[in-house]
Amino acid sequence: MRAIRLTLLLALSLTLFGCGEDPKPPATTDHHAMPKDPALAQIYANSCQLCHANPAANAPLTGDRKAWEPRIQQGTDTLLDHAINGYNGMPPMGQCVECSEEQFLQLIGFMADKPLPQ
Ligand code: HEC
Repeated sequence: MRAIRLTLLLALSLTLFGCGEDPKPPATTDHHAMPKDPALAQIYANSCQLCHANPAANAPLTGDRKAWEPRIQQGTDTLLDHAINGYNGMPPMGQCVECSEEQFLQLIGFMADKPLPQ
């Protein structure tokens, strides 16, 4: 569902751009995207969005599939390990100390805009 909605949004912004009514170039990522689940959305907004929706943070951006693809290829275990133990500029647990593994997997899947392979 989310992928369809994003595609529609993108198509809409492309259409607007094409008509010359909106001079802004279409964004490759949606900086305001939020997980559908309210609890997850809250964690994302409090802990991950600050960096993962901020191009200056050097983090793979939410919805930027190209940036996430090579990371996903490391495997779900490695991603989870990096999320929980930290990795370069990625702080341990993304500053969400009360998050469960399950929630990390859901958050990563949301940001990567695709479910993680198990
Ligand atoms: C203080 C900024 C910051 C916050 C907060 C943050 N991240 Fe990150 N994250 C980063 C940066 C920077 C990277 C890129 C690290 C690299 O590749 O060198 C990253 C990378 C990642 C990666 C990919 C690791 C890999 O192996 O490639 C995952 C997964 C991730 N973050 C998950 C999360 C989750 C989930 C949250 C919220 C609970 C979160 N991050 C919060 C900065 C942040």
